[in-house]
Amino acid sequence: MTQRAWDRPWCASFNVENLEQKVEVVGWIRRRRDLGGLVFVDLRDRTGIVQLVFETEMLSYGEKLSPEDVVRVEGTIRRRAEGQANPDLPTGEIEIRVSGCEVLTSAETPPFVVEDDTNASEELRLKHRALDLRRPKMVSNLILRHRVVAEARRFFDEMEFLEVETPILTRSTPEGARDFLVPSRVHKGEFYALPQSPQLFKQMLQVAGVGRYVQIARCFRDEDLRADRQPEFTQIDVEASFITEEDIFFLIERLFGCIFPMVGIDPPETFPRLSYAECMERFGSDRPDTRFGLELVELGPQCEGCGFRVLESAAEEGRVKGILLPGGADYSRKQLDGLAEFVKPYGAAGVLWFKLTADGVGSPAKKALGEDGCRRFLEAAGAGEGDLLLVVGAPERVVFAALGALRVHLAGERDLIPKDRHDFLWVTDFPLLEHSPDDDRYFAMHHPFTAPLPEDEALMESDPGVVRARAYDVVMDGVELGGGSIRIHSAQLQRQMFAALGIDAAEADERFGFLLEAFRYGVPPHGGIALGLDRMIMLMAGRDSIRDVIAFPKTTSASCLLTEAPSGVDEDQLKELGLKV
Ligand code: AMO
Repeated sequence: MTQRAWDRPWCASFNVENLEQKVEVVGWIRRRRDLGGLVFVDLRDRTGIVQLVFETEMLSYGEKLSPEDVVRVEGTIRRRAEGQANPDLPTGEIEIRVSGCEVLTSAETPPFVVEDDTNASEELRLKHRALDLRRPKMVSNLILRHRVVAEARRFFDEMEFLEVETPILTRSTPEGARDFLVPSRVHKGEFYALPQSPQLFKQMLQVAGVGRYVQIARCFRDEDLRADRQPEFTQIDVEASFITEEDIFFLIERLFGCIFPMVGIDPPETFPRLSYAECMERFGSDRPDTRFGLELVELGPQCEGCGFRVLESAAEEGRVKGILLPGGADYSRKQLDGLAEFVKPYGAAGVLWFKLTADGVGSPAKKALGEDGCRRFLEAAGAGEGDLLLVVGAPERVVFAALGALRVHLAGERDLIPKDRHDFLWVTDFPLLEHSPDDDRYFAMHHPFTAPLPEDEALMESDPGVVRARAYDVVMDGVELGGGSIRIHSAQLQRQMFAALGIDAAEADERFGFLLEAFRYGVPPHGGIALGLDRMIMLMAGRDSIRDVIAFPKTTSASCLLTEAPSGVDEDQLKELGLKV
């Protein structure tokens, strides 16, 4: 009946405007209901479902169908019987009275029911991903991802960016994670690295004069996985010449203005900007979730000479800060012990708490500080009756990490995060370098090509730790969506940067020689940014894990349950590569 496959309507495309039409549809059986003399079947494709009715001479066909069978049916659209309409479905007012049915393949009983509400474990869903991806929620994530990428390409095309592909088999790239290596057969004992990002190539393209580059780029990083981290992921990767931070902010704010409204989220025209230092002091995080309060309060001055040695020395050697939880005085001893356990992985010894109630102050520090001493802390935090103050004293890094995480934890526990609010912001003025106490040396906080702020350049040699970078992150709802920087384009400055990082000329040449060589023949000032596409889609789709918005993701232990990768290989293959395991 259908002339071309491309003309065949999708299941969810029918409504009352199609009444009396003769149609042909294909799809999967979602479920069957036998009403004696009448069989109702829901037919599903990626657009949704349509109800089929098998009666009279077709009844026996309908009775034989089971879930996930693939069928082609012909029939006539008719209005559903009085009271049978389903307002939740686009096809809810109609059904197809079947006049012909061909089972193209019959399905075995699937390992789980293909419905949004499933109690199948994620492991089972990943193992049977084809079935999992039939679930409407998963389909809608795939569709959203497609639409976002299409819109991003349209946007960048209009802004006159060129999409250029960069190599996957390459050399180590400087994003600071572990590389995935690919052994070379031709050059035995040598390896390609998969790119952690196209960083060096997109800078090369600026030297090449491309001027405005974009790529929907695959990146590979062998790092510990979390809900928002995968070993392979996708970036909307951007680089441009003769630009400043302001140009990047403008570009990304415009892009988000095109993309987020697709899911009813309207970002502000310009995003607030917070310096890294302010983020850490106020939120204990460089990707702050600003949709709720619980900001960190400074308690250093209250510790001085307070008489409680633990606090005094914490303030002298590190920092003491706290979080005031309004109404938190109802926390039980057990809950407070739980909070102390919560901060331990961040390096804090525990949490010191103060409660203000009608009966006075409660705190394990009351003996050492006295009632008045405790009140000094509570007052500094602005506590009122019924409030709870949680305090951490430790080296600065630990205080920020522990309280930053505790703040988000408490907000979740007390349900303080407004679901329908979304906050976008820029974090600026990152430190250029990060000191590693373990190695006693500096690492580039972003990567070694990031430029310092001009006003801090003079400190590169004398006090490298305080130099700020022309780097920026874009953050949404406490998730780092993207990051980038204005790059170094002066050979002299680049040498200074390598020196600060303890990279000598030979090592610089070994690792980045090809880029530095290109820079000798006319490099334009340039900069860029990369957005984590998976994270963007995750937030747009309101999901908690990027695994839900990647068709074939890896588990947290970096394996693919579908293909069982990684896997062993033949002895012959190893031999060819000159490898022994
Ligand atoms: P960066 O390393 O900050 O910058 O990465 C940019 C963005 O990519 C996303 N991202 C990830 N998403 C999922 N899984 C991961 N393992 C993962 N790692 C990073 C994040 C992050 O903000 N070349 C620079 C960009 C530049 O300087 O232009 C870069 O890759 O959303």
